[in-house]
Amino acid sequence: MDELAASIAHEVSQPLAAIVTNAESCLAWLAKDRPDVERARRAAERIVRNGQHATNVIRSLRAMLHRTPLQVSPLDFNALAVGALDLMRSELARHHVIVETQLCPLLGVVTGDRTRLQQVIVNLVSNALESMAEGAIWPRHLRVCTGIDADGAARLSISDSGTGIDPATMSRIFEPFFTTKRDGMGLGLSISRSIVESHGGRLWASAREPRGSTFHLCLPARDLCPGVCS
Ligand SMILES: Nc1ncnc2c1ncn2[C@@H]1O[C@H](COP(=O)(O)OP(=O)(O)OP(=O)(O)O)[C@@H](O)[C@H]1O
Ligand SMILES: [Mg+2]
Repeated sequence: MDELAASIAHEVSQPLAAIVTNAESCLAWLAKDRPDVERARRAAERIVRNGQHATNVIRSLRAMLHRTPLQVSPLDFNALAVGALDLMRSELARHHVIVETQLCPLLGVVTGDRTRLQQVIVNLVSNALESMAEGAIWPRHLRVCTGIDADGAARLSISDSGTGIDPATMSRIFEPFFTTKRDGMGLGLSISRSIVESHGGRLWASAREPRGSTFHLCLPARDLCPGVCS
């Protein structure tokens, strides 16, 4: 029960923060001398999507409590990445992060639980954002890339230009409750790794040159066509 409460607190805080940020932007667009209704509408749509994501996350955690099997379906891996970035869009913009995507156009489908895999990507993007927001290193650059590994797995890589991971703690970052942040719970990576492993995949980190880090998520895939992920 403690673990469930901690997981809910962790996984729901991101969509709630996104809802507040988007609601603030929506009001700001409407408060202009000449209200920008189109931008306000897009912000309101993101509020809806984040609200739906939070609801799905709670439903998914309740299912875990009842040991209900994963809700698997064929998923477009690229669309999953784009959907997770969309959920984070306002926070990325607020922190002036330049987002670059390099999505392998021929990538096929993976089989998995959409909500849980989206949680993983949101957790990785949140960490990347936090590591960039922490330091005064500019530009803040997030790169999201999909491709196919030599062994045929679908791969998603998320690179940031943040503080990077101290080599002395690299082996501990996936441990539950390990955090280097003042307000961190130390849960994002351990939750994410257990979700990925329950899908038969792998999640790991590496240092990025000249600075920052890259997180790699690999999932077994089907109907894949060759692509690159550098
Ligand atoms: N992109 C990153 N750049 C640098 N360090 C990172 C990155 N992602 C994770 N880390 C390191 O791994 C630790 C664990 O990450 P994790 O997401 O599990 O917890 P957290 O972010 O500290 O807290 P929370 O539970 O709120 O997510 C972080 O405290 C940080 O030291
Ligand atoms: Mg985290």
